[in-house]
Amino acid sequence: MEKIKVMTVFGTRPEAIKMAPLVHALAQSEHTEPIVCVTAQHREMLDQVLDIFKIVPQYDLDIMEKSQTLAKITEKSLHGLDGVLEEAKPDLVLVHGDTSTTFAGALAAFYHKIPVGHVEAGLRTYDKYSPFPEEVNRRLVGQIASLHFAPTERNRRNLEREQITDGVIVCGNTVVDAIRLTVDPAFAFRDEQLQPLDFENSRVALVTAHRRENYGEAMENICRAIARLSDRYPDVHFVYPVHLSPYVRETAQKFLGGRDRVHLIHPLAVDEMHNLMARSYLIMTDSGGLQEEAPSLGKPVLVLRRETERPEAVEAGTVKLAGVDEEDIFRMACELFDDPAAYDRMAHAVNPYGDGKTCGRIVRQIAYYFGREEQPPAPFRPE
Ligand code: UD1
Ligand code: UDP
Repeated sequence: MEKIKVMTVFGTRPEAIKMAPLVHALAQSEHTEPIVCVTAQHREMLDQVLDIFKIVPQYDLDIMEKSQTLAKITEKSLHGLDGVLEEAKPDLVLVHGDTSTTFAGALAAFYHKIPVGHVEAGLRTYDKYSPFPEEVNRRLVGQIASLHFAPTERNRRNLEREQITDGVIVCGNTVVDAIRLTVDPAFAFRDEQLQPLDFENSRVALVTAHRRENYGEAMENICRAIARLSDRYPDVHFVYPVHLSPYVRETAQKFLGGRDRVHLIHPLAVDEMHNLMARSYLIMTDSGGLQEEAPSLGKPVLVLRRETERPEAVEAGTVKLAGVDEEDIFRMACELFDDPAAYDRMAHAVNPYGDGKTCGRIVRQIAYYFGREEQPPAPFRPE
């Protein structure tokens, strides 16, 4: 019997990290055959991930241009995918999450009447402008998809509220599968940027910030808070792998450049990043992926956003919403640097997002959808 041709479409760093273990699982299954198409909405940051996971895309739209608008990304992805889908004729298209590539990928497949599977479905803030434009991308893909791979039970309920009940399975987040492939206590950092760090005699606070809704005052507040923290704690090294977005780079350099213990470094390869997280004291971030990875490593996270579509780890106690006000961020970080009891309350490993078996569930659900398996997989339940 011919294998089910499953095309994964992705374009940015986080989509690639979360799709990579799934591409491998699709290749290993007797039922499926992966076809990889990247829009390359990101270029260097995407290629770093493809290298580590040894994935060579069959199709690469190579759309990235410096500082391009959302409309341009969507337009070029949609146009490029039209031709790719015409040629490859996949049986199913998988998109991930909430980026412009995700939306364009789902829409292009819909125009070709190819069913869409949405990986990481059902996350919601119910605020159209936060995260922007991701909240709306995710909702629109929910309307198009036939299969919805919801990481958590809460995500499933969000979909149910929108009358989306067919083809929904709670399966955990593939990011937990990815992190199990990369984190190793014996890992030796290759990256020269990390060589000066002394994990024995100092504490490392890992910082990332890139969200569009934080551009402007919020991003400046975040930087000011980090600057004040670095003045106050001589034993703490702030390591900030700066996103390649020109706005983010300029702001980080303007507010934090030239400080002794603030390391503004280039984006790290994903295995270096995950192992750096595992050795950090604290993580301060507005990233979605880091909020899901840090809990399984037992690292406290201060989320530099007003709200989050990932409240599970907040409930489990390892993540706190710090907001984007300078004083709040400063105060909440001071508490974690100064108060061992407050730190210990947050620093415990929890896995609300997965058990490392998510990709297997997704592949089995696809096989079931196409009539190759008699039973759907059992859903993910956190311990
Ligand atoms: C995108 C996603 C966001 C996701 C983020 C992950 C949308 C609307 N946004 O935001 O959901 O959280 O990726 O990082 O889809 N750049 C480079 N090289 C790279 C990558 C980016 O130079 O490898 C620069 C380019 O100038 C590019 C800019 O960064 O124009 C912004 O990239 P873009 O994909 O438009 O938005 P992100 O802010 O990265
Ligand atoms: N990441 C990485 N190198 C870096 C910074 C982040 O590999 O220098 C990884 C991180 O571990 C996580 C993902 O990139 O898996 C998060 O990507 P990003 O913050 O760009 O996007 P988001 O998750 O907010 O959509």
